[in-house]
Amino acid sequence: MLLKKIGDLRGKQNSSFSARVLMLSLPSAIVFVLLVFLSMLSPMSAVLSYAVIVVFNMIFLSPITIDLEHLRRYINTLAEGKTLDDVDLSEDEAHDIAEAVNSMHSFWVAKTDELQAQVMSDAAVLDTLPDPILMIDRSGNILGANLSARKMLGENVTDKNIENVFDSNNFIRAVSKILKKESESEDLFLFAKEPLNRKIYAHIKQLPWFSKGRAVAVISLYDLSKALTVEKMQADFVANASHELRTPLSVISGFIETLQTSAKDDKDAREQFLKIMAEQASFMSSLIENLLSLSKIEMSQDEKPKGKINVAKIVDDVAGAFEHKASERGMHIVVEKQDKLPKITADEGQIRQLLQNLTDNAIKYGLSNGDVVIRLKKTEEIIPSKAFHVAKGAAVAISVNNKGPKISTEELTRLTERFYRMQEHKNLNIKGTGLGLSIAKQIIMRHRGNLTVSSSLYEGTTFTVYLPVELKD
Ligand SMILES: Nc1ncnc2c1ncn2[C@@H]1O[C@H](COP(=O)(O)OP(=O)(O)OP(=O)(O)O)[C@@H](O)[C@H]1O
Ligand SMILES: [Mg+2]
Repeated sequence: MLLKKIGDLRGKQNSSFSARVLMLSLPSAIVFVLLVFLSMLSPMSAVLSYAVIVVFNMIFLSPITIDLEHLRRYINTLAEGKTLDDVDLSEDEAHDIAEAVNSMHSFWVAKTDELQAQVMSDAAVLDTLPDPILMIDRSGNILGANLSARKMLGENVTDKNIENVFDSNNFIRAVSKILKKESESEDLFLFAKEPLNRKIYAHIKQLPWFSKGRAVAVISLYDLSKALTVEKMQADFVANASHELRTPLSVISGFIETLQTSAKDDKDAREQFLKIMAEQASFMSSLIENLLSLSKIEMSQDEKPKGKINVAKIVDDVAGAFEHKASERGMHIVVEKQDKLPKITADEGQIRQLLQNLTDNAIKYGLSNGDVVIRLKKTEEIIPSKAFHVAKGAAVAISVNNKGPKISTEELTRLTERFYRMQEHKNLNIKGTGLGLSIAKQIIMRHRGNLTVSSSLYEGTTFTVYLPVELKD
């Protein structure tokens, strides 16, 4: 067995093994030479004794050498990141060494796992940040990018140098100042050209010298486009609102002036002008009312509606309230309800206002002498939508239909825009503020429902509102 092991290992260790055996046997060889020289031992006996010592040395040294060889292979295997289930060692000392190496290996494996978990959790934390973040090395190569940065600049952003990310000289200059340690942090605005097309605010910060890895600076980017769009929308809204108010106001001021001058003593003209002025004043008050309503609903957007309401009852109330207005246009309001409709979690006042706006539109813009049909039914799910963050689960669908000409797809998509009114209705001099459907949209958004509009020559125009039965968190 032992001789076999010696034979197995001979190929790899023979030179060092033989050298070791000869070294160990050398003192005996010297003693034998001296004894022969002093004629105290015959050369034959000396050679025989020396041969016996060499063989003994070989026998005693072999297991140690085999163990050392096993140990070497074992440590090499661990160093390559692989593991061996057991190691074939015979000597106690070698076994102890192997165990020590083993526990050192287990310790480092645990440490590496811990570090890896730390790195992964750091990356996960960075990925949850809404703003793009990049880490760069001394040469400006991007070493890391969080999820938001990868979404903005592409998955392969980490293969690039920062100079190739934004085509902006100011940005490149600011980064190079940081890399040359001429500055600790830099802030600047930049415009990212096609395909990004965004205005960005960049904050570049040198990392402290003791920070881990090769990263020397971190770049945080803030996409200003959304904020600018909101700002522009607000500015447009104020401009539109002022414009809408200025028109009736200038009509009223014009008539006041006429009444004070040329029409001062004209009784008929006065009657007629006062009627127009009253109409304009009433339009101004409904405009102000709608503007206030819109801002109130927008402010309530984050407030979850609490009450449980019976939508069918509200539909009946609204239909009753608008019956007279409908009859003036030769119309009837027909309500078709599914049995056993569930109550829904909603703000009663807002749902009433939403249904009033849709019914009012159907009467105003529907074909005269045609019916307005309001249908109510339960649905299992609300169809997901880009514009609305819809709630899951069952819902009540309320559709309001009127007969009339087909509305083009382009116009259908614009109906809920603030102050948008179809040209043909303006031409027909049908009064309206253009805010009723934007108010409806805001109410539906607060209730996490959905709104769809369809229009065809035969079916007319149908607005369908989906309101969830439950508003879960
Ligand atoms: N049922 C409908 N059929 C045809 N067109 C409609 C219908 N409902 C709305 N519209 C069009 O959409 C536009 C916007 O409607 P919205 O209710 O927001 O404003 P409005 O009716 O003009 O004003 P207000 O609601 O203050 O009276 C209307 O001016 C009209 O051109
Ligand atoms: Mg309206």
